[in-house]
Amino acid sequence: MSQLLRVVHPVPAEPWPTADEAAASLLFSPLPLGRGLTLASRTWVPAMVPWRATAEGEVTDAVLAWYARYADGRPGALVVEATGIRDVPSGPLLRISHDRYVDGLRRLVDTVRARSHGETRVFIQLIDFLAIRRRPEPASYFARFLRVDEGHRRRLADLLGRAAPAADDALRAALAALPDTALDAVLTARELDDLRRGYRERVTDLHLPHIRALPTALPPLFADAAARAEAAGFDGVELHYAHAYTMASFLSALNDRDDGYGRSRDGRVRLPREVFAAVRARVGGGFVVGCRLLGDEAIAGGSAVDDAAFFAAALAADGMDFVSVSKGGKFEDAKAPKVGEAAYPYTGPSGHECMPTVRSDARGPFGRNLPLSRAVRAAIRAAGLATPVVGAGGITGYRLAEAALARGDCDVVAAARQSLADPDWWRKVRLGRGAEVRRCKLTNYCEGLDQHHKQVTCQLWDRAVVEGEDAASVARSADGRRRLEAPRWEE
Ligand SMILES: Cc1cc2nc3c(=O)[nH]c(=O)nc-3n(C[C@H](O)[C@H](O)[C@H](O)COP(=O)(O)O)c2cc1C
Ligand code: SF4
Repeated sequence: MSQLLRVVHPVPAEPWPTADEAAASLLFSPLPLGRGLTLASRTWVPAMVPWRATAEGEVTDAVLAWYARYADGRPGALVVEATGIRDVPSGPLLRISHDRYVDGLRRLVDTVRARSHGETRVFIQLIDFLAIRRRPEPASYFARFLRVDEGHRRRLADLLGRAAPAADDALRAALAALPDTALDAVLTARELDDLRRGYRERVTDLHLPHIRALPTALPPLFADAAARAEAAGFDGVELHYAHAYTMASFLSALNDRDDGYGRSRDGRVRLPREVFAAVRARVGGGFVVGCRLLGDEAIAGGSAVDDAAFFAAALAADGMDFVSVSKGGKFEDAKAPKVGEAAYPYTGPSGHECMPTVRSDARGPFGRNLPLSRAVRAAIRAAGLATPVVGAGGITGYRLAEAALARGDCDVVAAARQSLADPDWWRKVRLGRGAEVRRCKLTNYCEGLDQHHKQVTCQLWDRAVVEGEDAASVARSADGRRRLEAPRWEE
């Protein structure tokens, strides 16, 4: 995004359809997704982490209530948040990493089915991510984390114009005493990143045995997780191949692994294909397996739309049931976090591309990423395949959604923040009551909460007081200030 062209775009006024118009629309027409499953409409709530699981990653009543509210809007499909496939502590992120999670997840599926009157298909997003640490205090970084070597000694000597200390401890102390700007000449790019953003594993860290082994470790982990999702009653899974996480990093043009799982497009898509094959082999024939990938990484040297088109066509040819297209959301250009905090992949320019706000360049946020889903869809169709493509990014109104379908930008329209702002919005539009939709302002208050792993809510309703509501029964955030669910809407 160009910083020079920042303007504030008003949310466009919406001439909402009547109920009859909506009934005749593409948006509210059914879509066969394959495997005998049909979406009742082409409306989709994509994955959004609300930070409501227990510290052990279990489904809570707050998780159930959160998804029940989306189900009230009766979207064609709802994708449950990114859910961890490894049985390791990962904070209040939902997990599907052991059979003990199946009962809770089954309650979640049952809740969505009941509240949507059986209209909404329920998928769950399966995620793997690598280790990331908080940004260190410079003193502890130099004292404990930095491994000094002859390179540091030589570069420090060049900088100072005299010999650098011979003893490692003294060398560390000398480095710690340098002004921050001088460090650019002495530390490697990776070390500077570790210091200024916090240590983060990469899929290219082949010196680490567990990173080298990812191609053998991940297919069974994803397959086991998918089998649990099937046991819990989900209609399918969405393999998370997007944003800042492990599988997207394999697809990235920055992936230069030399073991056959990097460099060329074929090499980069190899593990995503193998994960898909393992998952497909484990689940039943009626169980949907799709993926979410990036139409563009939106970082320097990253994969662009041509790569995405190639990957999507390859995965569709393998039998992927849907491809959902997102953009950006990478660590590479994320803002440096404060000392003691971890980097968050939605703070830099690529993060803006992922969740575009009204403060944008001339193109604006509305439907901003649809050219990517359009190109991906065209590549899939050119390969003779009918695999449905899900488009997302700044869609907050009916006209844009309908136009996207009519133009062939996508087969299904996903709206994340608009659904958070008003979980009933699809239903309101379908009933010809669009004037009652609470329009998302695309200013990313919700994303700010997500960034700090706080329970996600929306600024448009989290302080709302509803007449006649029993205040004591309203679930509130840990600090008691914000309501956790959008007020109910009476049809
Ligand atoms: C609070 C929040 C959490 C999100 N969590 C996820 C996630 O778990 N997985 C994912 O693929 N995308 C996630 N996203 C991105 C959304 O699915 C979506 O791609 C993005 O917000 C752009 O769509 P929108 O303009 O309709 O909001 C999240 C977005 C928000 C606002
Ligand atoms: S907090 Fe702001 S950006 Fe997020 S859903 Fe609400 S209105 Fe939209």
